Amino acid sequence: MTNAQKWVAAFLGLFLVLFLLGRLTRKEEEPQIPQTMGEQPTQVSGEVDGLTMINQIGCTSCHGDNLQGSKLAPQLVNLKQFWTRDALINYLRNPQSYSRDVRFDDYRSKYKNVIMPSYGNIDVKELGKIAEYLLTR
Ligand code: HEC
Repeated sequence: MTNAQKWVAAFLGLFLVLFLLGRLTRKEEEPQIPQTMGEQPTQVSGEVDGLTMINQIGCTSCHGDNLQGSKLAPQLVNLKQFWTRDALINYLRNPQSYSRDVRFDDYRSKYKNVIMPSYGNIDVKELGKIAEYLLTR
C-alpha cells in the first residue's frame, strides 16, 4: 500500500464509523399531530355547549326559542352559507361593523328598533363554541 492509499483507507474507515454512530444516536422523529385533530373532541361536545350557552346568554329572547326567528330578530339557520367560524366570532364581538351585506339592509328595515348586542365581554373560546353550533344548523 502506498501512503496515499493508507490515507484514503483511513478516511473511509473514519467516515464509516461516523456514519454508524450517527445512525445509532438518531432518534426516531415523532409524528406531528395536526392542531385540528387535537381539537376535534371539543368540536363535538361544542355543539351541546354552544346551544347551552345560547340559551343561557339569552340569544333566544330575540332570535326565538329554537332560533327560528321572531319579530325582534332573524332566524339563525343556514349561517354556514354566509359565515365562517372566525367571521361569526368577530360578528358576535362587534355586530355593528358587519352591516355591508344586503341581508343586513333587509334586517335593518325589518328589525328597526332592535339592536343586536355585542358580546365582546364573552370569552372568545366560548364565542367559538357558539359559532360552531350555529354553523351546524
Ligand atoms: C336584543 C335582541 C338580540 C339578541 C339578544 C341577540 N340578537 Fe342576534 N340579531 C339581532 C338582530 C336585530 C339581528 C339582525 C341584524 C342587525 O340588526 O344587526 C341579529 C343578527 C344576528 C346574526 C346574523 C344573522 C345572519 O343572518 O347573518 C347572528 C349570527 C346573531 N344575531 C347571533 C346572535 C347570538 C349568537 C346571540 C346570543 C349570543 C344573539 N344573536 C343575541 C338581535 C338580537
